[in-house]
Order: sequence, then structure tokens, then C-alpha cells
Amino acid sequence: MTVNSIGVVGAGQMGNGIAHVMALAGYDVVLNDINEDALKRAVDLIERNMDRQVSRDKITQDARDQAMARIVTTNDLPQVAKTDLIIEAATEEETIKQKIFDSLLPHLADHTILTSNTSSISITRLASRTDRPEKFMGFHFMNPVPVMQLVELIRGIATDKETYDTCLGVVEKLGKTAASAEDFPAFIVNRILMPMINEAVYTLYEGVGNVNSIDQSMKLGANHPMGPLELADFIGLDTCLAIMNVLHDGLADTKYRPCPLLTKYVEAGWLGRKTQRGFYDYRGETPVPTR
Ligand code: CAA
Repeated sequence: MTVNSIGVVGAGQMGNGIAHVMALAGYDVVLNDINEDALKRAVDLIERNMDRQVSRDKITQDARDQAMARIVTTNDLPQVAKTDLIIEAATEEETIKQKIFDSLLPHLADHTILTSNTSSISITRLASRTDRPEKFMGFHFMNPVPVMQLVELIRGIATDKETYDTCLGVVEKLGKTAASAEDFPAFIVNRILMPMINEAVYTLYEGVGNVNSIDQSMKLGANHPMGPLELADFIGLDTCLAIMNVLHDGLADTKYRPCPLLTKYVEAGWLGRKTQRGFYDYRGETPVPTR
């Protein structure tokens, strides 16, 4: 199947990155969010990120202008429904995702492929509530989308080969690399990454190290580009907690129990960079550890 148009539902941190790379790869993009301000912020951010790519000679001014012209925004969900491939990139909450798919269903074109950028929720379960489980799969980007090379492709139990091959073709057109993952809690990347981040929070909770020493240890001692606590703030502590809960519930193993300190930060509304406070306080010129 040929894909020309992409619908992106949710214009947050992941949605804007997805719209960015899809438009640069030549797809017509319909970017949707219920919040007008979020749509405006997303377009501004895409523009700024593309401008930076132009200034660093990663893309030409012409490619940037053409890509920006391919992005249409709307807060009317049915407008997304006629695209060839829809990527849902809303909040990591199953009920919200289900509501989005429920609202899209009556308006979908027959050939439309539905995907979710979920980082951990069961693809098979999300698919089972739709009219097209064979045309449904996981399409999981990493943050920041324009920079990270990997896309996880997750087949639900009913996903057919044509759907998988079509999504693989899109990943290749983006110039990215696909990793095929089976539909088990948190797939591959987060199954490995999140317990590491959760363990870093336990290390902090138990006083083995402070925010600085933990992050520095992993940057200088394990060559990670970001320390685990800095990375947790970057991903969003609410997302990290949601993924740990999916691992804990889905695999029924206490080794995945979320650290109480992670829960405490989320309860405080200290969700990381997006709320300007998490393991670091971002309100000043330079980030300051909060513990
Ligand atoms: N759009 C476009 N380009 C961007 C960008 C964006 N949003 N963010 C950064 N860049 C570019 C910069 O322009 C820069 O380009 P050049 O190499 O051409 O100069 C390059 O990326 C590096 O950026 P910076 O110099 O600003 O900063 P850095 O060297 O510290 O790198 C980073 C930043 C790429 C984010 C790096 O710190 C990193 O790789 N961190 C780890 C990120 C990671 O692990 N992501 C996965 C999270 S897990 C996930 O996403 C899955 C999930 O479900 C939770």
C-alpha cells in the first residue's frame, strides 16, 4: 500500500517531532490536538527545530519551506481520519487512547492504517476495540524524534503482513531504522531503559548518591549521553511512572515496582522539563538538582 498522507493525533513532545520528520520525508501531515494552543506551540517548535537544522546545514531552506507547507493543523479529529496512516501520540493513558480511536472509527477510510506511538500499552488490546485489528500496530518513536535513529514496530496478535510492511516502508523513507518488537509490556527499549531509570531513582531514594553523582556516574562511567535522572526529566516523570506501572502489572513481578520517590515527584506535579521541575529545577539559567 502507498502512503501519501499521515495523521498525527496529539501535538505534544512526540507528536510535533513525528509531524516534523514526516513532513521532511515528503508526507502530507494533518496534525491534530484538542488544544489550539498546543497546536500553535507545536508548529512554532517544528519551525525552530527545522531552522536549527537549516543553520547547521542538515537540510536546505527549500526543504524546510516545503516541509512546513505540508503540515496542516486541526482540532477537529474527523479531519485526520481520511489520511492513509494515523499515528496516535496522545498522553500515555489507555482510556484517552481508546477514546481517540473510538472517535476516529466512524470517519476512517477503508484503507487507513491505525497505529499508536504508545511506549508500553498493549497493541493487541488497543486494536481489539477497533474495526481493523489487522490494520493496527505500534509505531514507537524515540525522543527527540528528529535526532533518534530508532523506531520500534510492534505487531499486535492480529496485525497482517501488509500493514507491517507498509509501516516498515515509511520508517525506511524517514531514513530511520526499525526494530521489530513483540507485543509484551513496554516492548524492547522501555523494558530495558525504564528499570534502569527506576533503579537510579532507588539509588537516590536510598541515599547511595545524589542527583549529580548518579547522573555523572552514568555519563562518565557508562558513556550515556544523559544521566538517568536527567533523561527521566526529559521523558517526563509521569510517563516513566506509567511505564513502570505497565511493567509491574503486566509482568506481575515485584522487580518492576516503581520507586516511591518517583511516585512522590509525580504527586507533587514535578514531572520534569515540561513542568520546569523534576529531579532538576529548570526555572533558572542552569538546571539545579532538587535533591
Ligand atoms: N529537533 C531537531 N534537532 C535536534 C532536536 C530536536 N528536537 N534536539 C536536538 N537536536 C539536534 C541538535 O541540533 C544537534 O544537532 P548537531 O549534531 O547538528 O549539532 C544534536 O541534536 C545534538 O543536540 P545538542 O548539541 O543540543 O545537545 P546534545 O549533544 O546534548 O544532545 C540529545 C542532545 C540528542 C538529546 C542527547 O543528549 C541524547 O541522545 N540524549 C539521550 C536521548 C534518549 O535516550 N532518548 C530516548 C528516550 S526514551 C524514549 O524516547 C522512549 C520512550 O518511550 C520514553
